[in-house]
Amino acid sequence: MFETLTKATLDKIFVLMAEYAADPRTNKIDLGVGVYKDPTGLTPIMSAVRKAEQRLLDAAKTKTYVGVVGNRGFSAAVVELALGGVVDPKRIRTVNGAGGTGALSILMNVLGRARPGGRLFVSDPSWPNHLPLAEMAGLKPHPYPYFDAQTRQVDFTAMMGVVDNLTPDDIFLVHGCCHNPTGASLSREQWDTVVESLRRTGAFPLVDLSYLGFGDGLEEDAYGVRKVVSSVPESMVSFSASKNFGLYRERAGVAIAIARDEAGAEIVSSQMQNVIRATISQTPDHGAEVVRIILEDKELRAEWEAELTQMRERMKRLRIKLAEAIRQRSNSTDFDFIAEHSGMFSLLGLPPDVVEKLKVEDGVYMINDSRINVAGIPEDRVGELADYLLAAIR
Ligand code: LMR
Repeated sequence: MFETLTKATLDKIFVLMAEYAADPRTNKIDLGVGVYKDPTGLTPIMSAVRKAEQRLLDAAKTKTYVGVVGNRGFSAAVVELALGGVVDPKRIRTVNGAGGTGALSILMNVLGRARPGGRLFVSDPSWPNHLPLAEMAGLKPHPYPYFDAQTRQVDFTAMMGVVDNLTPDDIFLVHGCCHNPTGASLSREQWDTVVESLRRTGAFPLVDLSYLGFGDGLEEDAYGVRKVVSSVPESMVSFSASKNFGLYRERAGVAIAIARDEAGAEIVSSQMQNVIRATISQTPDHGAEVVRIILEDKELRAEWEAELTQMRERMKRLRIKLAEAIRQRSNSTDFDFIAEHSGMFSLLGLPPDVVEKLKVEDGVYMINDSRINVAGIPEDRVGELADYLLAAIR
């Protein structure tokens, strides 16, 4: 049987994570996989999550199935958090996904049924997993220009050159905030222009919302997704609780479909449930229930929001510190963009051989496209990191 197979390419993010773990150097620096880190380098369990887990344990009576759509309270709370009531609930249907990836997989599979072989437009560059997810769902990924390598900002003119020419059969995949991997996100005016264009062309938007609250704030980061879903007749949103609730391994996410009307919503709901049943039957509930408990409880919610604010501000501070350290040492503003980007990532624009040299010689790990996770910057070694970066590009 297996003789017909060849080795598949593994995702570079998780290959690098394993390489980092196996590196015995004690002074290594992890700017690779997108997980939040505290000042000790730990990806902590948030205190609101710990408390919710305790409540869950104390109150749990059964482990029986929840049902194919998953934890309805979790989905409803996430819809309220992300969409803020801008769409009539009668048009919205949700199912839980196994993390943001699971949610995306369900949504793309439904889209693959609606438009077999259809074109899914994905930013160039994007999160690497978008491409295999689309292909497994029978969709054809097409890149749209996104990033200007010179200014290190969104190349909006080039992007709109493609977006303005989409058709009603096309799917437009867009990062809701905190673009991964570039760190360059759309401004409010740019979102408005994109939405105007979608209304004109009829292209179908799929919003990947994996970092809500990691950019400028929960409300601020939701501007784009709310604008999209409230302006077009049909859309989809994948939500991940991996980062903003720190629930990575628990796989908590929500697949949200917004239909033209209630009848359309029922159809898309049945399709989503059909995909889940035929793949994993039911989604995991632990993380979903934790998020539900937090979002439905005033005190726990406030505690979670405060922790999220702290995490966001720490990432912003690390951005500013690294940009300043590089500026002081090099007398140039070439890396100031690190402080201007938002979310967890910045694409540094280093060639692969420089990225490799940093890893091999200095123990500085970043993704081979030179994406750094700013939460991994060790605050007490920012100067040392700036020295490594500058020496490597010299
Ligand atoms: C990342 O981009 O590093 C994270 O989203 C982890 C992942 O699943 O790729």
